[in-house]
Amino acid sequence: MFKKISSLLLAAAAAVALAGCGSGGGSGGSGGSGNDGSITMGFSQVGAESGWRTANTKSVQDAAKNAGITLKFSDAQQKQENQIKAIRSFIQQKVDVIAFSPVVESGWDTVLKEAKNAGIPVILTDRAVDSADKTLYKTFLGSDFVEEGRKAGRWLVENKKDETGTINIVELQGTTGSAPANDRKAGFAEVIGADPKFKIIASQTGDFTRAKGKEVMEAFLKAHPDIDVLFAHNDDMGLGAIEAIEGAGKVPGKDITIITIDAVKDGMQALADGKINFIVECSPLLGPQLMDLAKKVVAGQQVPDRVVTEETTFTQEQAKQVLSTRQY
Ligand code: AHR
Repeated sequence: MFKKISSLLLAAAAAVALAGCGSGGGSGGSGGSGNDGSITMGFSQVGAESGWRTANTKSVQDAAKNAGITLKFSDAQQKQENQIKAIRSFIQQKVDVIAFSPVVESGWDTVLKEAKNAGIPVILTDRAVDSADKTLYKTFLGSDFVEEGRKAGRWLVENKKDETGTINIVELQGTTGSAPANDRKAGFAEVIGADPKFKIIASQTGDFTRAKGKEVMEAFLKAHPDIDVLFAHNDDMGLGAIEAIEGAGKVPGKDITIITIDAVKDGMQALADGKINFIVECSPLLGPQLMDLAKKVVAGQQVPDRVVTEETTFTQEQAKQVLSTRQY
């Protein structure tokens, strides 16, 4: 009798466990989470191109764990087609919510419509898409990249205000077609454009990587012996460019003024060491806010269309003060 009751209890427990596994796939975007209240998020990351990206991935993974959200993580290796494939696979798996950081701005409408038709809410994180139809996603969490470019421009204008001659600037752009590359370029150009002494003499993509930043800076240095300023759209490209500048026998931070964006540890170290002159912060720690938004969206609650990350800027002196406590 006792044996019979135990096997019945065991069978019941196994059935509950199996039901739990099934619901890990979510509710097919029906507006709720799995039967047991669990949430599964499909997350398509751009890649691992920079220190910023590595910190962002860790933030998302840690926050999912802390929030009790099951994360299906996919690395697109900087390729849009891989992100589209990942999103389609998340739709097939009937996840509860899809979040992604679009490698470029254009070309998302078709796959976003597929997610919408499947009833699966989408959250944009870090980077925006240029879709006219704003109903294709619930919200966009990330930095104001235009403002970041403006902050870089404002510091340059202020710090070169006493110089009278032409100031020759080279620009290392982020990934071609990406929101941060487009917006940082626009914000910077808007500010320096007010004074004709600032001249961008070369501007090319370094794809947000250290290796490409070095390669392109080497070419800039060969073609232009008279570079005064480097504006790099992220720290990693700036750090690669520093190697090129030193290789050319020049002193970074002195012979060439360097402004970058991100404020990751290696960048902040170079700033404290005097090799970079100014860094505009772009925070990668988006994980906790993303998980909060995901819970609300899955519960069918209203969320703001846009959530802007709070950020600051760093001079060399400020970098020295905060370096030891920097999280990423
Ligand atoms: O989208 C954010 C940008 O992407 C970061 O500034 C850059 O480092 C990263 O690769």
